[in-house]
Amino acid sequence: MQAMFITETGGPEVLQYGELPTPVPEAQDILIEVAYAGINPADWKNRQGLLAPFRPYSFPYVIGFDAAGIVAAVGGEVTSFKPGDRVFTPTNHGQGGQGSYAQYTLAHQHRVAPVPDSLRLDQAAALPVAALTAWQALFDRGGLQPGSKVFVHGGSGGLGSFAVQFARWAGAGVAATCSTANVEYLRGLGVALAIDYQREDIASTLRAWAPDGVDLLVNAVGVSSLPGELDLIRRGGTLVSIPTLVDDGDMAAATAAAQAVQVKHLYSMMDDSQCAATLSRIAALVAQGDITLPPIREFPLTAAAEAHRVIQSGHNRGKLILKVADLE
Ligand SMILES: NC(=O)c1ccc[n+]([C@@H]2O[C@H](COP(=O)([O-])OP(=O)(O)OC[C@H]3O[C@@H](n4cnc5c(N)ncnc54)[C@H](OP(=O)(O)O)[C@@H]3O)[C@@H](O)[C@H]2O)c1
Repeated sequence: MQAMFITETGGPEVLQYGELPTPVPEAQDILIEVAYAGINPADWKNRQGLLAPFRPYSFPYVIGFDAAGIVAAVGGEVTSFKPGDRVFTPTNHGQGGQGSYAQYTLAHQHRVAPVPDSLRLDQAAALPVAALTAWQALFDRGGLQPGSKVFVHGGSGGLGSFAVQFARWAGAGVAATCSTANVEYLRGLGVALAIDYQREDIASTLRAWAPDGVDLLVNAVGVSSLPGELDLIRRGGTLVSIPTLVDDGDMAAATAAAQAVQVKHLYSMMDDSQCAATLSRIAALVAQGDITLPPIREFPLTAAAEAHRVIQSGHNRGKLILKVADLE
């Protein structure tokens, strides 16, 4: 198969296009012919070797978590999918498997969901990691309640665009930060308060909206960009930090500091072990129009390095995807 892979970690230039063996599904795996691979910040961090504490790097190594495509074959114990089905998934990449920047990729059946008829594959490829992480941070870890006040730090990126909409859909009032260029975009997603972090003081602007502090703060940017984050949360409230690998500070000290002021503090890593049901739920919300897809910018697979430069800037609005094959 054709794939974009690396033979050493490093900058975007280490990504190379060439031929690799097509993977073979194990009993519970689905072999997917990839139409589109979704891009996440984890991809450039992975390319640079920052995921080494979580996985061995075995070269040639295919980057990429997210995929949408067509089932090509199934392992002997797969019952709910058959060749020809349209599917999307965060693949087996989080468990160390080869990724989605390739003509074919593998995903355990518990990580695969069908793409609703009304969604295209390019749209589905934008969902897995960003939407799943947002969902788990708000609901599974954050325990979001209707009527609560939620602050999403970093509202205009992949994760943030879903987080602000999920929170609003669940009946919360939502405030979020973004740069000047994204204020109107965030307002369009329905946030009650879009805070321009380049021009406004986040703490005083938020305090005017939530005088006792917010019920739930999701930090999707990193600790250094939000000094004093605990002061923004009411006593008894919750802080959910999305681990970034590059700006997480002293995690144990942060949790102790939160405890001292009666704020529940959790780190929310994406958990894709049994994510098929949540992915289906998210896809249904998108299909029925409750959640709007963020802007999706497409690159050919061979331009993965260019796409990595954009995601690595840390200021992309919405999602980036790679077109791997014309399958619909
Ligand atoms: N551990 C996990 O399981 C997991 C899973 C998913 C994501 N993540 C991490 O979560 C982070 C966000 O992911 P993503 O997919 O949303 O990334 P993304 O699509 O690259 O979006 C990043 C967003 O951050 C915003 N931003 C940058 N600096 C900011 C600041 N100082 N204040 C407020 N917003 C700021 C940017 O908006 P502006 O351009 O408007 O500044 C941009 O839209 C990344 O570090 C990613 O690696 C971790």
